[in-house]
Amino acid sequence: MTVGAIPQHVAIIMDGNGRWARARGLPRSQGHRAGVENIRPIVEACVEIGIRYLTVFAFSTENWSRPEDEVEGLIGLLGEALVRETPELHREGVRICHLGSLERLPEEQQQAVRAALDLTRDNQRLVLSAAYNYGGRAELVHAVQRIIAERVPPEKVSEELISCHLYTAGLPDPDLIIRTAGEMRLSNFLIWQAAYAEFWSTPVYWPDFSKADLYQAVRDYGRRKRKFGGLLEQV
Ligand code: IPE
Ligand code: IPE
Ligand code: MG
Repeated sequence: MTVGAIPQHVAIIMDGNGRWARARGLPRSQGHRAGVENIRPIVEACVEIGIRYLTVFAFSTENWSRPEDEVEGLIGLLGEALVRETPELHREGVRICHLGSLERLPEEQQQAVRAALDLTRDNQRLVLSAAYNYGGRAELVHAVQRIIAERVPPEKVSEELISCHLYTAGLPDPDLIIRTAGEMRLSNFLIWQAAYAEFWSTPVYWPDFSKADLYQAVRDYGRRKRKFGGLLEQV
């Protein structure tokens, strides 16, 4: 693939599982199953392209408001995928991170998440962050609570300090945010970190989002002119 700059960090809002299923006359749960299965090939494509950080939005703090059986089904599928995929991801050198809160998740899943983070912590090829039970506003509330608990004096509060207290501490900000299924909104995803991210929206539903679609988004990113508020000649 010929590309310009390759994004260091790509973040994906994996949307459209329900519409994918409806278009096939299937229950929404089948869309979620197909969606969870599509994470693996996209992780592979990121490794091929040389992307160092991939973040996927799997379940938002607002998704708890969906019908109970949908929530339960989705959480079950995500937990199963974590347990099934972790050993292979580890062999491939993928480090798994979690963005969000473990509270409210089933106890055995909390343990599975901790085990996956622990097992893969020294891997360097790709950092795969799962935004799971994640909300950008909840993340900011959590950060402010920690800063206050640490008795940080007001004049020491800086952008860097806030960044260090977010779930994403240590990760670079996303360069490219991809949203599938056509919506043009962030839905509470990485609202602090997205300040200067490039945005790419595609009508393709997440279960159909292919390696070729990812390559297309990355190619488009390579043609963008990022200015960060300055003038092009300064960047
Ligand atoms: C994305 O698909 C998965 C989650 C939000 C958890 P949706 O379930 O939102 O699919 P649509 O938007 O109803 O098509
Ligand atoms: C965003 O999708 C959350 C995830 C992809 C996990 P939603 O389907 O929940 O977003 P809205 O409700 O359309 O904004
Ligand atoms: Mg949706």
